[in-house]
Order: sequence, then C-alpha cells, then structure tokens
Amino acid sequence: MKDYLIAPSILSADFARLGEEVDAVLAAGADIVHFDVMDNHFVPNLTVGPLVCQALRNYGVTADIDVHLMVKPVDRIIGDFVEAGATYITFHPEASEHIDRSLQLIKSSGAKSGLVFNPATPLDVLEYVLDKVDMVLIMSVNPGFGGQKFIPQALKKIQRARSIIGESGLPIRLEVDGGVNVDNIAQIAAAGADTFVAGSAIFGKDDYRAVIEQMRANLAE
Ligand code: DX5
Ligand code: ZN
Repeated sequence: MKDYLIAPSILSADFARLGEEVDAVLAAGADIVHFDVMDNHFVPNLTVGPLVCQALRNYGVTADIDVHLMVKPVDRIIGDFVEAGATYITFHPEASEHIDRSLQLIKSSGAKSGLVFNPATPLDVLEYVLDKVDMVLIMSVNPGFGGQKFIPQALKKIQRARSIIGESGLPIRLEVDGGVNVDNIAQIAAAGADTFVAGSAIFGKDDYRAVIEQMRANLAE
C-alpha cells in the first residue's frame, strides 16, 4: 500500500482535554497531528498558537505536528513554532509578501515547509519554489471552520498538483484539508493525495479507531 498519512485536525477536538484527545487519536492509529492556527484576520476564526503546540510536546506528544498557519503575516511566528516543536509549518501564499523568503525561513530553522492553496487560488507560484517545499496542501473548503462540505473542484487541483510533484521527482507530500471523510477518502487518494486531514469526521465520532480503520480500509481498496 502507498505511504498514506492520516492527520486528525485538532480543531474538532475537545480543547479542554487536548492532550488526552491527541493521545487518543494517535493510539487509534493516526499518523500525524494537524494543528490549525487561525488569527481572526486571514481567516474569520481564532484558535491557538505556539504555546499550545509546546504544551502538547511537554505533555509527551512525539508524533509529527503539522502546523497549518492561517495567519497573516507569517514570518514573525515561524521561529516560535519551530521552538515549540512544529514538524511541518505550512502557510498560504496570500499571507506572505515574500513566499520564497518565508519558505527559506522555515527550512533554515529546521522545520519542514509547505504551501497551502485555497479552493480558488491557482498553483502558479509552486513551480518557482518546488525545491523549498516539503508539502503541498490543497484546501477542499474555504479555511476557517471545521465541518464544512468537500468542494469537488478540489479533485482536479489535487490531480494537477500530483502531476507537478511527479514531474519534479521530489519527495513532496500532497495533503488535502477540508471535508475529508470515510466516504470520499478513496476518491481523494485516487486523485493523487497521500496525506489526509480530517477533523469532524474523526473527532465527531465516539470511536476514533473505527473511523481511522475504515479510512485505511477504503484507501487499501
Ligand atoms: C479548516 C481547517 C481544517 C479543518 C478541517 O480551516 O484548516 O483543518 O479543521 O475540518 P473538517 O475535516 O471537519 O473539514
Ligand atoms: Zn487545516
């Protein structure tokens, strides 16, 4: 089977028990932790920052933490997230005046970098920075909230991103975020994704393990 990663989004977790929730999804078979950072400026919602990422590390979380920055500007928060234990730091091209510089900042701090593309944002900038990117994240909802419906047009963009990555020959992950669930995960994988963020589909159910196992079973078909 392909090297698929399932990345529960903590946005839909119970924040009052965040450490336990993260432990629970990892014990249930999740691979990495998707950590949504919102600033009530770039997106119309407000979540958590480096302090909470650090708190998860202090609590004992050793899995990769995939920090999805939905903040503007991005540069001044990058160092704080690296120090707080972020593994991946991804940001939206619209949120940085100097995309190449922001990517370099992430890489030179020792984290893995990524670019995130909103549903109506073209992939244009990607070709110029492919060598500085470890992950491409295709948004299949407009960012800001969990529990939204998957936008089907994202499938075409996933295919396009897969062919750009394939042509580059670089080991870049292709992640999809928004409205991913047991019913559509196979179709999303068929379009070329290898990393699947799921918030409400996992945390919205009582049995995290059952959802994650069903996702893997559907991916294996
Ligand atoms: C949306 C966030 C997502 C969100 C996904 O802005 O970036 O990570 O938590 O939630 P679901 O899986 O419920 O669409
Ligand atoms: Zn996200």
